[in-house]
Amino acid sequence: MLILGIETSCDETAAAVIRKDKGKTEVLSSVISSQIELHAQWGGVVPNLAAREHLKNILPVIESSLKEAKIRPQDLDLIAVTQGPGLIPALLVGTNAAKTLSYVWDKPLIGIHHIEGHIYANFIFDKIRSISKQAKIKFPILCLVVSGGHTQLVLMKKHLDYEIIGETLDDAAGEAFDKVARILGKGYPGGPIISQMAKNFKQKKEAVEIKLPRPMIKSKDFNFSFSGLKTAVLYLVKNNPEKFKDEKFLEEAAYEFQQAAIDVLVGKTLKAIRKYNPQTVMMAGGVSVNQELRAQMEMAVKKDFPSVNFHLPEIKYTLDNAAMIAAAAAFRWENSEDKERFFSGWKNLEADANLKI
Ligand code: KG4
Ligand code: ZN
Repeated sequence: MLILGIETSCDETAAAVIRKDKGKTEVLSSVISSQIELHAQWGGVVPNLAAREHLKNILPVIESSLKEAKIRPQDLDLIAVTQGPGLIPALLVGTNAAKTLSYVWDKPLIGIHHIEGHIYANFIFDKIRSISKQAKIKFPILCLVVSGGHTQLVLMKKHLDYEIIGETLDDAAGEAFDKVARILGKGYPGGPIISQMAKNFKQKKEAVEIKLPRPMIKSKDFNFSFSGLKTAVLYLVKNNPEKFKDEKFLEEAAYEFQQAAIDVLVGKTLKAIRKYNPQTVMMAGGVSVNQELRAQMEMAVKKDFPSVNFHLPEIKYTLDNAAMIAAAAAFRWENSEDKERFFSGWKNLEADANLKI
């Protein structure tokens, strides 16, 4: 089947066409128009500005995704759109475009939870050699979701079945990267900036003198907290004003912050594996693009649990995109006994900024 995916929950306008056949999920096109430069000057995403940009871009982006995939609207079997969570002015643009197209083209419409999309980026296998990786994904799955708005440990006993066994009590991991970059006087988004600064420090092979806390690393539950870690960086900078222009000091702070975040994310994931015995461990969300996190998580899981299958989404489907939304919709469609109701999606679907998974 051919699915058009649409994503506008934050600052990327994205559309993609995927083909799902006999278990193979192939991406025919994945178009992303980023607004990062627009929002960078404000130090974060401005919801109404985002909506205005989505409005400008949504139809050209959808048109390009169809053209690139060499698909005509009548060839489509399904339309999928991010229903929430996210910024409501941004979500409304995507959901209304999707509802209109669903009505005009007479195609069924499925609303997808943004985090469900990130999780299903793990199920995009568009290369022959990756098909064998797909066979190795067995339930139960433990997925660490780390994005700009979410940090959760999710247990899946089967497709589309989510049990949140732990989550952040305050800031999300990506949010902490963004706030720490701001504290260090750098731009937006913070993730790529902090990871580059940390890399620069690591290459110098010098001892780490800055010490930051690993919040909740020893707590018995599977929850996280990143707000204290961010505040510790704030005090580090406040207490050393003379060093604010010292790039080496800032890079060391970035390195130690990133390592503290990784230690907590890895530590809690290992603890959850010990308790829940998953057959597969995966990661999802924008922060999982972080090379150090990917490498350290893989090493730790493989060392302590060699029989567990460790799986990561391809980098190009890790940050916000629409292929992941279409991929999740393919599973929703296949697993639904009442497909008829999706034909009235254009009438019933409502964007929800606080949608629960
Ligand atoms: O999943 P995503 O694209 O959007 C949300 O659903 O929130 O994640 C965006 C988050 C931002 O906070 C960004 O700073 C973070 O992912 N991020 C990173 C890296 N690249 C992006 N965090 C750490 N390391 C990176 N290399
Ligand atoms: Zn996202």
